Amino acid sequence: MRILGIESSCDESGIAVYDSEKGIIAHQLYSQVKLHQEYGGVVPELASRDHVRKIIPLIKASLKQANCQPESLNAIAYTQGPGLIGALLVGASIAKSLAVAWNKPAIGIHHLEGHLLAPMLEDKQPEFPFLALLVSGGHTMLVSVSGLGEYQIIGESIDDAAGEAFDKTAKIMGLAYPGGPLLARLAEHGDGSEQPFPRPMTDRPGLDFSFSGLKTFAANRIYACDDLPDAAKQQVRANIAQAFQDAVVDTLLIKCKRALKQTGYTRLVVAGGVSANTHLRNQLALLMKKLNGEVFYPRHEYCTDNGAMIAYAGYCHYPHGVDADSSIEVYPRWPL
Ligand code: KG4
Ligand code: ZN
Repeated sequence: MRILGIESSCDESGIAVYDSEKGIIAHQLYSQVKLHQEYGGVVPELASRDHVRKIIPLIKASLKQANCQPESLNAIAYTQGPGLIGALLVGASIAKSLAVAWNKPAIGIHHLEGHLLAPMLEDKQPEFPFLALLVSGGHTMLVSVSGLGEYQIIGESIDDAAGEAFDKTAKIMGLAYPGGPLLARLAEHGDGSEQPFPRPMTDRPGLDFSFSGLKTFAANRIYACDDLPDAAKQQVRANIAQAFQDAVVDTLLIKCKRALKQTGYTRLVVAGGVSANTHLRNQLALLMKKLNGEVFYPRHEYCTDNGAMIAYAGYCHYPHGVDADSSIEVYPRWPL
């Protein structure tokens, strides 16, 4: 079976072909990061226009890469939500139009389910049930996954997502968008021990998160060193970056540990852009070793938004998830 996957929920145009025998046989990704950089964040209208420009050439490139004719596809999977409405509509319109033109079914996929299932594309795959930590620029949540389509959110951020807090803190430091990876790199040169940050919502029971206070806490520290000479300021910023990263990672760890205890699961899946964070990965590896459990990640290029996870989720839902009609509908706010 072969499924074409189209991802366009935010600022990445991702196209891939999943083959049930061979795995991913084509993977094309275009990131709009440069386009949005001068605005310090994603501009929805620009994102939609760029998807219009990029998706069809990327589909052509994917089919060529996979050496695959449209006739050999079984279905076209596309991200139906959640995400930016205009961006979603571009992907959905192209998916539905190709479905009509090629006489293939279309399958609308939940973006977060795509992230959750992405580790299944690796050689070492998690068996159900497992706990999933989804950490991206738009979401931070803990999901109890008992089987395909059986997802229960057991904790989530009540305000900013972890990636959003990384990006906003980085922006205050003057780092380029998206600042998460840059802040992580700055943290490598810092010493966070003199700048202790709080671990929000860990002093009470429950699995929810709150990261907007950490961003404000960081902002106050950053502004307080504004008058220092440049070299000193740079070092204090690196220290703040490390203390901030330690606080986010520590908070995620505390809640994962709690959630594993609550569910009794021994497998943890970590997905979404922030799962690329090296400190988070190292700390989770230590935690899971201590708990005698296992941790699973998608490879780096499938951590952030991509078409491969959508193609794979389409394969999992074929043929039951096929869209009943050819009208185009997207869900910018779609609960998991
Ligand atoms: O999953 P993703 O590509 O897009 C969303 O669906 O949001 O995640 C992007 C987020 C951004 O906030 C980015 O700053 C963050 O993931 N991110 C990181 C790292 N790499 C990406 N945050 C911290 N450390 C990293 N190494
Ligand atoms: Zn995402």
